[in-house]
Amino acid sequence: MAEELKIPDTENKQHKYGSLFPQIKALVEGEDDLIANLANVAAALKQAMDFFWVGFYLNKNNELVLGPFQGPVACTRIAYGKGVCGSAMAQKRTILVPDVDQFPGHIACSSASRSEIVVPLIVDDQVPLVLDVDSNRLDDFDETDKNYLSEIVNLLSRHFG
Ligand code: SME
Repeated sequence: MAEELKIPDTENKQHKYGSLFPQIKALVEGEDDLIANLANVAAALKQAMDFFWVGFYLNKNNELVLGPFQGPVACTRIAYGKGVCGSAMAQKRTILVPDVDQFPGHIACSSASRSEIVVPLIVDDQVPLVLDVDSNRLDDFDETDKNYLSEIVNLLSRHFG
């Protein structure tokens, strides 16, 4: 298992993710414990991408409960269909929010959060967890984030189904 991430010295998001992805894949494939993997994926994304907040919410009886994360203290429970996370779970799709103030029902865990992306893991038509990433800048996420974060989340499907 890699004990230290190698992060390329570039501001290019695509390059950063491109270097990060195989390292996260190796981390996840080398460990069978879900929580250990969620913790390391959150840490790797925080360290490499310098996200304001990055972490997981786990689906427990159709309610999202806070899991491993990196960043400020966050809301612990989100109901099905509520906020960006609960909406991504209910709609079974990634939701990109360029401006959280424009998203009806957005749950503000931190007033510093300005934009957000939530990627659900979908296994057998179920959503066992979502990955949530917050930025303190407006419009900070795009298709590159969506594509790479989806691939990263999909690495976790081996824990379910
Ligand atoms: N903003 C999220 C809540 C989780 S925090 O951002 C960590 C939402 O609306 O679901």
